[in-house]
This record gives sequence, C-alpha cells and structure tokens, in this order.
Amino acid sequence: MTKQDLIDRLQARGQEQEKLWAEADRIRKETLGEAVHLRGIIEFSNYCVRNCVYCGLRRDNRRLLRYRMSVEEILQAARIGTAAGYKTIVLQSGEDPWYDVDKICTIVREIKQMGVAVTLSLGERPKEELAQFRQAGADRYLLKHETIDPDLYARLHPRGSYRSRIGALYTLKELGYQVGTGIMVGLPGQGLETIAADILFMKEFAPAMVGIGVFIPHPNTPLGATPPGSVDITLNAVALTRLVLPDVHLPATTALATIDPKGRERALRAGANVIMPNITPLHYRRKYEIYPGKSRGARANHLTVREEIEDMIRGLGRTVAQDHGHYYRRDANVQI
Ligand code: 5AD
Ligand code: SF4
Repeated sequence: MTKQDLIDRLQARGQEQEKLWAEADRIRKETLGEAVHLRGIIEFSNYCVRNCVYCGLRRDNRRLLRYRMSVEEILQAARIGTAAGYKTIVLQSGEDPWYDVDKICTIVREIKQMGVAVTLSLGERPKEELAQFRQAGADRYLLKHETIDPDLYARLHPRGSYRSRIGALYTLKELGYQVGTGIMVGLPGQGLETIAADILFMKEFAPAMVGIGVFIPHPNTPLGATPPGSVDITLNAVALTRLVLPDVHLPATTALATIDPKGRERALRAGANVIMPNITPLHYRRKYEIYPGKSRGARANHLTVREEIEDMIRGLGRTVAQDHGHYYRRDANVQI
C-alpha cells in the first residue's frame, strides 16, 4: 500500500469502510485465529515529570491528586490479577523516577514468579535501566511514538525529544523486548498524511504490539478546548495497521472504549485481538485521569469486569486466549 492508498482508505465510510474492516477481520482470523488476549493493567503511579500538552497527568496539572502505589500494593494487585486468570500483567505509570531500578526489578521478579508475562510501560528510561528490567524478566515494553511528524512531536512534547523517542524504540528491540508502539488519532495539526506516515513507519519498524488511541481533550491541559479525534478514522487506522502488520498484537484501546460505548467491539471487528482491562485498585484508578471519562463505569470487582469482557468476546464468536500471548514472528515461528 502506498501512502496515497492509506490516506484514501483512512477516510473510508459506508460500504468502503465495511469492506476495509471485513478485510482486516479476515486477516486477523487467518493469522492469529479467534483468541482475544486479555492483559491486566496496573496504573501504579500518576506522577509524571513530563508535560505532554494533551495529557491529564502532565507535570503542570496542579489539580490532580497524585498517588504512588507501594511495591507491596502493586504485588497485591498483580496477585489479584493472576488469580482472576490474566496471563500478562502490564505495569504502567507516568514518567516517575521515584521507582528506581531496584524497585522496578523487584516488582518484575516477584510478578514473574506468579507465572505470567510482564509488560512495562514506564516511559523513556536510560538504556542501562531498560537492560536491567529485561534481565529481571520483563518480556515486553510499550512506548508509543504518538506521531511520526517531528514538528508535531516537538509541539506536543515540551520536555521530550523526537530523536530519543524513536531511538528508544530501537534500543528496546535490541534488548530483546517485544516492543509496542502506537499513535493517537485526532491530535491538533495531525493530517491524514501524518497518520499514513505513522502506519508506514510501523510497518518498517515491525513492532510486536501497536496501540492506536484517539485523542480526548482534558480540560486541565492546554488542549482542553480542542475537539476530540474521529472514531471512524481511528477504527480505519486499526484496520489498516492489521493489513500492513498481519501478525501484530493490536489492542482495542481504552480511549476508543471511552469515546464510543461500542468502541471495543468495533475495534475487535476491525482487526484488533487484545483487550487490556484495568485492574488498578478503584480508589487509585479514578486519579489516573489521562483524559476525562477514562474510569467511568469502573467496577471494584475484577472478576465481574473480566466476566463482562469475556461475555462480550464470546458474543462476537471469539474465544478468550489461555496462553501468555507472546508475539511470534509468523514467518520465522520464533518468539521475539
Ligand atoms: N487522549 C487520548 N489518549 C491520551 N494519552 C495521553 N493523553 C491522552 C488524551 N488526551 C495516551 C497517550 C499515552 C498514554 C499514556 O495515554 O497515547 O501514550
Ligand atoms: Fe506523562 Fe505519559 Fe502523560 Fe506524557 S503522556 S504527561 S509522559 S503520563
């Protein structure tokens, strides 16, 4: 697919859109089958040293009540998650150096003892630290590049560097992580051409996971008055990503579920094969407000949450994966 093909298909509506989603759904089925992987996510700290202009956790948002879960609280949440059947625990936070190498390595080692895969999503960290997390047993790392347009990246990330972001993705790969990257659709100043370029970049980088979110304005950020991103374009981007990366793990993101009550189901029908239910203790979850409405309808009982999601999956004629959901390169049949 050329860039122009991608631009055209990102705008698909009506029959064209149905065709695109059906094609992505068929490729997902042929490559990965009917199993949907569930990853339990623990949002363990909402402190962040960065100031991304779109995000409610940004350092300058003084209205947010900040929290840090202790190592023991994190392990307890992971125990509850594994007991509920999750085969992957995702540890996510703002960029919070309070969690030093020792703390993170302890947490990773302890959770690996529970027999599950561990995904880290801690933002950018020095290579030596990433190497130590990997040695401690971390399997995967999520680091969305957000946008491949360097100027747009610079405008959105006052305390970030485009080059270090992209560099970090290659470092993670080199260290043997299954690497996840991804974008947000609907950022101000982002055209369809940018999204097409993002998809081409991801095709070249060949990540193990791709998260495609949709921009939702947060009132306590500089982008509070900016309109949200388009659900249709986001779902089309999910489908096109499936076409260019047939075997990638592609979550139906929480942002899509937040902006559209049927967002999860629709993404699962447009190429997605992963859901990341939130297993953060409820009193903390409300404070992890990257965008408004994120924890709306949150339930304290993780078993109920999981049951509802499993029912939804079965309702679509799909199954719940029982394995760890590692990424295998289909051509080589090797885990990376
Ligand atoms: N809308 C949607 N997604 C957001 N993120 C941050 N702010 C927003 C927002 N306003 C996403 C980013 C980041 C992750 C932590 O949350 O993609 O990677
Ligand atoms: Fe921090 Fe991530 Fe939010 Fe940026 S997007 S402010 S790095 S939590």
